Amino acid sequence: MAERVVVVGAQWGDEGKGKVIDILSEKADYVVRYQGGNNAGHTVVVGEDELILHLIPSGILHKGKVCVIGNGVVIDPEALKAEITYLESKGIKINNNLRISDCAHLIFPYHKVLDKLREEKFSRTKIGTTGRGIGPCYTDKFSRNGIRIADLLNKRVFREKLEANIEEKNAIFRKVYKYKTFSFKKIFRQYSDFAEEIKPYVCNCSLLLNQAIKEGKKILFEGAQGTLLDIDHGTYPFVTSSNSTAGGACVGTGIGPNKIDKTIGIVKAYTTRVGEGPFPTEFSEKLMNKIRSIGKEFGATTGRPRRCGWFDAVIVRHAVCINGLDTIVVTKLDVLDMMPSLKICVGYSYKGKLYDNFPSDIEVLWKAKPVYEELPGWQQSTKGIKEFSALPKNAHVYLKRLEQLVGAKIEIVSIGSERTQTLFV
Ligand code: IMP
Repeated sequence: MAERVVVVGAQWGDEGKGKVIDILSEKADYVVRYQGGNNAGHTVVVGEDELILHLIPSGILHKGKVCVIGNGVVIDPEALKAEITYLESKGIKINNNLRISDCAHLIFPYHKVLDKLREEKFSRTKIGTTGRGIGPCYTDKFSRNGIRIADLLNKRVFREKLEANIEEKNAIFRKVYKYKTFSFKKIFRQYSDFAEEIKPYVCNCSLLLNQAIKEGKKILFEGAQGTLLDIDHGTYPFVTSSNSTAGGACVGTGIGPNKIDKTIGIVKAYTTRVGEGPFPTEFSEKLMNKIRSIGKEFGATTGRPRRCGWFDAVIVRHAVCINGLDTIVVTKLDVLDMMPSLKICVGYSYKGKLYDNFPSDIEVLWKAKPVYEELPGWQQSTKGIKEFSALPKNAHVYLKRLEQLVGAKIEIVSIGSERTQTLFV
């Protein structure tokens, strides 16, 4: 493993990052989350057990790793506590293997309610969020009235900020949503208790990681969501509220861009997305149901059925560019095993114009017709294959074409959820 590696989703999330990060974590000293919150759901299969992590980096499953929640992450105390309890119930001890940035922002109960109310009330512009309060929390961060862990640990500052926030939010709840208001006292008490519980984990993330870099430690930055859900580079406004792309690793942890050695993009052998928004290569209902059932395409966080479609080389090419991907990992190739033929989207056509680069105009994304290339399937099971070279000939043809179209080399191919079902190229 290179010294400092960023792993990102190169589509709309759910590319199977959990498994890849789990494998790469073995060689890392530090595993770091840098954006998002418990909207993420990283599934890792260990033997018979399927573990789903939302907030704590999946490196926690390996002994001797330091797992860091960076300043770019938004933390829901309830979710963090639940995850610690869940991991401890699985025999994983949480002590100095978890570090949390003192600059990470906190999600409050009013953020979660606001997230759901906005989606309900303004349903014409619904995003299909996970309802975890992510957007409203980042909104407060950027309008400079958010509350960070460092603020929480200073009772006087916390009291002042929480009072101001609750006053403002309650006015919104009353006037815009006709919703009940929040009690300062209750939240102040709950969060003050939480402050005591997390104190031992709190750190200066930037100092911690820069020191680790000086000592030559291996650091894995675990991206959540995917490139097309990035607030700047995704299918805006149908995105999440953070920078899920590789650049987010620097601002979300406090390390310089020259400290990143390698960026790996995870892509599913086809495409999925959850929530609203344009999806040019989305399948028709019959194929959707088939692939959803073979690929078990249901959200790890909300259980929502994922929308499924053909591989879209336009968006992955965009991801290669935005993240500066050195290599890609193709996951869930086995889901396509029995397909007689496979389509790959190589461009979009709209009003007589061909788009082979990702268009920022949401209308083009909604209305464009995908331009496909079609390749023959391999129609045989890849289950049990141990070597990349042993994959069926047509699977090689498919993967080679993906490489050519997206402009990045494939490093790993995954053919199942278990650690052993991983082929290194
Ligand atoms: P939010 O992050 O909850 O605000 O949701 C915004 C959009 O991002 C919605 O379309 C969600 O379905 C999507 N989203 C958020 N987190 C994930 C994830 O981990 N995987 C896939 N989609 C996600």
